[in-house]
Amino acid sequence: MRPLQMVDTKTQYLKIKQEVDAAVLAVMESSQFIGGKAVSDFGTHLATYHGSKHCIPCANGTDALQIAMMALGLEPGDEVITPSFTYIATVEVAALLHIKPIFVEVDPKTFCIDPEAIEKAITPKTKAIIPVHLYGQAADMEKIMAIAKKHDLFVIEDNAQAIGCDYTFSDGTTKKTGTIGHIGCTSFYPSKNLGAFGDGGAMFTDDDDVANKLRMIASHGQSKRYYHDVVGCNSRLDAMQAAILDIKLQHLDEYIDARRKAADYYDAAFAGNKMINTPFRAGNNKHVFHQYTLILDGIDRDGLNQYLAENGVPSMIYYPVPAHKQKMFDAFGGSEYQLPLTDWLTERVISLPIHTELDSEQQDLIVSKVLDYINK
Ligand SMILES: Cc1ncc(COP(=O)(O)O)c(C=O)c1O
Repeated sequence: MRPLQMVDTKTQYLKIKQEVDAAVLAVMESSQFIGGKAVSDFGTHLATYHGSKHCIPCANGTDALQIAMMALGLEPGDEVITPSFTYIATVEVAALLHIKPIFVEVDPKTFCIDPEAIEKAITPKTKAIIPVHLYGQAADMEKIMAIAKKHDLFVIEDNAQAIGCDYTFSDGTTKKTGTIGHIGCTSFYPSKNLGAFGDGGAMFTDDDDVANKLRMIASHGQSKRYYHDVVGCNSRLDAMQAAILDIKLQHLDEYIDARRKAADYYDAAFAGNKMINTPFRAGNNKHVFHQYTLILDGIDRDGLNQYLAENGVPSMIYYPVPAHKQKMFDAFGGSEYQLPLTDWLTERVISLPIHTELDSEQQDLIVSKVLDYINK
């Protein structure tokens, strides 16, 4: 049996090695390392996959969020409403731009931002809502877009963990997450569902003006070479990464199916166990299982985490400390927040290995070790 890992990028690579190696070599032969055909082809293919008018590749998912806030004209002192139960990148970039993150609760079933909590947190300074499609499941975008419309707010989707997720509205229309708000942002960090062999990210929008601004800001604020109209940054997707991602994009749907199959297997194995809550699947979207995260009930989580590690089974706590309790947000009044559901989740969640290469033998071992600990 192959050793267990949270993500097995090596075995995944070996299955497409010939295609990937040829694509990388082609970039080397072209010696077009920055920009060029590989990057523009990938941007076009990814926009098509998403059904989005524009896809602007950039250096990573964190930059994508920062550039999105800059392109929408968010200014120091403005407020953005975000979940606290997220990876730090979502909220860190707001702070970097001197925009105040307003942390709100998540729905404890979906782990995504609670629309009712959003509405209560709106003030005259609120400019945007930043839903995070955590672990691969969509936030309640229909309600979020309605709130945004009512209060004239922007929506920036953090789709780093949910690329390929289909969200269905009550009228039956379906859209990919990341294309529902004003701007969608994603990450190609190697462990992501569409992972590069290094860093990468992208932004999506249907708005031509916004797309121009995103492009300009990601390229030193320049409108044409050496003419810099706005303050920007340097955020480029590397051509080799683009070439690799373009190959992997052709496999994305099969990667998602493999993750969903692995999730089904876990669900069945843990079904009926009162101490383990398997991931809830909302009826309005197709969970792409970036993570397979359990909520433990009456189990010593650290003990389980340690027991699994001792038995060769990796597990992770995403995230042990919510954003509002991170030291970096002391200056933003982080410690004054009361977010009991977020605290409750951060004390109980544990993620098991999930990736495209998991087989039933590996999953049987993982499940048996989890159950051994619980039944001890
Ligand atoms: C929810 C979320 N937002 C943003 C990011 C940032 O992406 P990157 O690591 O590419 O900067 C990540 C990935 O790590 C993430 O999981």
